[in-house]
Amino acid sequence: MMKIKKICCVGAGFVGGPTMAVIASQCPEIKVYVVDHNKEKIKLWNHSNLDKLPVFEPGLKEIIAKTRNKNLFFSSDVDKYIIESEMIFLAVNTPTKQSGEGKGMAADLTNIEKCAKTISEVANQDKIIIEKSTLPVRTAEKLKQILNSKNNDIKFEILSNPEFLAEGTAIKDLFKSDRVLIGSEDTESAKEAVEKLCEIYERWIPKEKILLTNIWSSELSKLASNAFLAQRISSINSLSAFCEKTGAKIQEVASAVGKDIRIGDKFLNASIGFGGSCFKKDILNLVYLSNYYGLNEVGEYWHQVVKINDYQKSRFVKKILESLKNRIVNSKIVLMGWSFKKNTNDSRESASIFLANELIKKGANIIVIDPLSNISKIKNDLVDFMQGEDFEDYSSNEFKDKIQFSTSYFEASKNADAIIISTEYDEFKNYNWKKLYSIVTKPALIFDGRILLDRNKIEKIGFNLYQIGN
Ligand code: UGA
Repeated sequence: MMKIKKICCVGAGFVGGPTMAVIASQCPEIKVYVVDHNKEKIKLWNHSNLDKLPVFEPGLKEIIAKTRNKNLFFSSDVDKYIIESEMIFLAVNTPTKQSGEGKGMAADLTNIEKCAKTISEVANQDKIIIEKSTLPVRTAEKLKQILNSKNNDIKFEILSNPEFLAEGTAIKDLFKSDRVLIGSEDTESAKEAVEKLCEIYERWIPKEKILLTNIWSSELSKLASNAFLAQRISSINSLSAFCEKTGAKIQEVASAVGKDIRIGDKFLNASIGFGGSCFKKDILNLVYLSNYYGLNEVGEYWHQVVKINDYQKSRFVKKILESLKNRIVNSKIVLMGWSFKKNTNDSRESASIFLANELIKKGANIIVIDPLSNISKIKNDLVDFMQGEDFEDYSSNEFKDKIQFSTSYFEASKNADAIIISTEYDEFKNYNWKKLYSIVTKPALIFDGRILLDRNKIEKIGFNLYQIGN
């Protein structure tokens, strides 16, 4: 089999960029090309100012500085580098389908299928094709059909090699992966392809952490891993509602439960609900696939994870509306946190978008504080959300004027009727809450969706504090 001298990754996003940067840093003799049709994005990856990279991840710019234009290249000439490379990673996005069969549930495979079609059209030598994107189980079958549609002698080996990195810790996760998963068919040529991929990872990942499975297991394991993580959050969030009725405290329960090493203490932080681009999308995809295979009970089981997440967000809004009662119209509400978790500027599926929308619909004015966001991003997020929800009776402009952004938490909080904590930024803890108390409208209300604040301290100042699960 061919020697790997050139690798191409289609998709210069959150997964493709950091993953290829790490591969390039560990394999100096291999040329790594990250390609994307989006010229703007490629321009930013090539920007001389490394603070302008399109993905913010701690440690990323240092690696880019060392590898870029040495053996790591970013280009919008997709065909050229597909032709030249022996190994091609597919790291394009697979959002939830917005129309047609499976609308709102299934993964939209348009991008990945387009990639396969391009490869099939331009390839003039055998290639290893690697699924990096999160995909429905049995996608490799579909890819194979497309890749082989040209009926020539070129052979494609398809491997599944899902990514498990989380935003904000991508580089750390890539270097210290809990596992690298490689799924393949059970043929000699597939095993050779697996060997080639292992040779790359083994430069920095201990051999025992590289798991080899069949291709469908690998595809399913990615969906299953995200489903398990999300399920833990929904489990603890469901019990947070229980705690509020009974006087139990969710953090104490989480700590007691998590001490059992069979359960473990990670991912048991009760919250306003999980966000991010993956959990909801992947679980809905799992639900869709379960139903597709006639496994309706299985589908229903996993669907409940998303339903509890929605319930958690709605419950939180209801609490705010009940507390503000008839003061909600024209009220001023400070929303602390816009991103879906701390240390990222990503706001996809953030609970803050849902909250802002619900409160504005009831007549509130929202002012957002977030260290990594800005007003145009916030407005765009809201308009996108509104359109997705079909709020036909809203004109965008009217809606958009109800939201503002501030870089001063003090200015923002003057005469505020309520403060909401939606993202777990540490700096919110260190705000001068005494000073804030003196300038907000009384009764001074705080709704802490992340159990971030110290209850004793905050209540002593005089605030009425609602915390999830307490
Ligand atoms: C997630 C997975 O953690 C990664 O392993 C996976 O590779 C990635 O999706 C993906 O498929 O691309 P990510 O979405 O970046 O990573 O973020 P997480 O750290 O998993 O957080 C997701 C959401 O859950 C956030 O809103 C976070 O605040 C929330 N969360 C997390 C909680 O509410 N409670 C917790 O205890 C943990």
